[in-house]
Amino acid sequence: MGITIRGMGYYVPDKVLTNFDLEKMVDTSDDWITTRTGIRERRIAGSESLTDMAYRASLEALESAQIDPQEIDAIIFATLTPDLGFPASACLLQARLGANRAYAFDISAACSGFLYGLEIASSMLSSGRAKRVLLVGAEKLSQIVDWTDRSTCVLFGDGAGAVVLSSEGEGELLASVMRSDGNYWEILYAERCGYIKMKGKELFKLAVRSMADVCEEVLQSAGVSTQDIDLIVPHQANIRIMQALVEKLNVPMERVYSNIHKYGNTSAASIPIALCEAYKEGRLKRGDLVLLTAMGGGLTWGASLIRF
Ligand code: ACO
Repeated sequence: MGITIRGMGYYVPDKVLTNFDLEKMVDTSDDWITTRTGIRERRIAGSESLTDMAYRASLEALESAQIDPQEIDAIIFATLTPDLGFPASACLLQARLGANRAYAFDISAACSGFLYGLEIASSMLSSGRAKRVLLVGAEKLSQIVDWTDRSTCVLFGDGAGAVVLSSEGEGELLASVMRSDGNYWEILYAERCGYIKMKGKELFKLAVRSMADVCEEVLQSAGVSTQDIDLIVPHQANIRIMQALVEKLNVPMERVYSNIHKYGNTSAASIPIALCEAYKEGRLKRGDLVLLTAMGGGLTWGASLIRF
C-alpha cells in the first residue's frame, strides 16, 4: 500500500527532570529507575500546552516534507492528554497551522495511538479520500502523573512527534495488525481528571507477549523474516520490555532504536519522536524495512511494517 512518510518533526520541552531530581521528590533512586526501566531523565512541559508542542513538531514535519499546511487533507491527532474536553486537539492544531482545507479529529488509543493513526491514515490514502495526512502523537503526561506515587511518576514524560504522510512516493505500509482487549482496562487507566493508575508487573508481561505476537503476525503476512528488518522502533515504555521483545523475535538489540533514557514513556508521542531522531542520526534511511510496535492502555496494541 503506497504510503510515504514525507516529513517528520518532534518537540520536547526544555525542562529536564532527572532521576536525581526524583530522588528528592519520592522514595526512589537513580539506580532503581535506571536498572528497572532504562530511564535516566524525562522532559516536563512548563508553560507549553499540548497544542504548543504539537504545533512545533508539526511545523518541522511540514517544513521537512516541503508541504504547505493548506495542502493537508486531514489531521489525525493521537493523545490521551488533550488541552480541552472538546473540541479535538486536532482542531486546535489545525487553527494554529492554518491548515484550513483539512478535516481534523483525535483518536484515543493511549500508547498505541500513533500506530492506530497510521492505520486510519493508510486507509484514507489508499482509498484516495486523502492525498496528504498530518499524523501527530503528543502528550502532556506530567499533568496526569501523581508526583507522590513512585511506582508511576518515574516512568513518564512530555513531548510531541508528527509525520506528514503522502500517497505519492516510494514508501509502503507492507502489513499491519491492530488489536485491543477492553477486559484489561483496569491494568492501566486514569479516571476523568485523575491520575495514571497501573499494575506494572502484569502490564510488563502482557506488553512483551502481545507485541511479540503481532510482530510475528505482521512479518508472516508480509513474508518477511526478522533478518530482513533494518530497524525496530518500539514504543518506548521500558528498556527491559524492548530487550525481552527482541529476544523473543530473535533480533539483536543493535537493530532496535531507543531513546527512552532521555524522554521516558511519552505514550502516543514516543514512536514519532523516535522515528524522527533515528532519521536525524542516520539510523533510518530511505528504503529501510522498519518494524513499529506499541502497547498501551485499553489495552491496545499493534505492529506495522513499513518500507521507509
Ligand atoms: N523506586 C524504588 N522502588 C520502587 C519504585 C521506585 N520508583 N517503584 C516501585 N518500587 C518498589 C516496589 O514497591 C516493590 O517493593 P517491594 O518489593 O518492597 O514490594 C519493588 O520496587 C519491586 O516493584 P515491582 O513493581 O515488582 O518492580 P518491577 O520490576 O515490576 O518494575 C516497573 C516496575 C518498572 C513499573 C515495571 O513493572 C514496568 O515497566 N512495567 C510496565 C509498565 C509500563 O511500561 N507502563 C507504561 C504504559 S504501558 C506501556 O507503555 C507498555
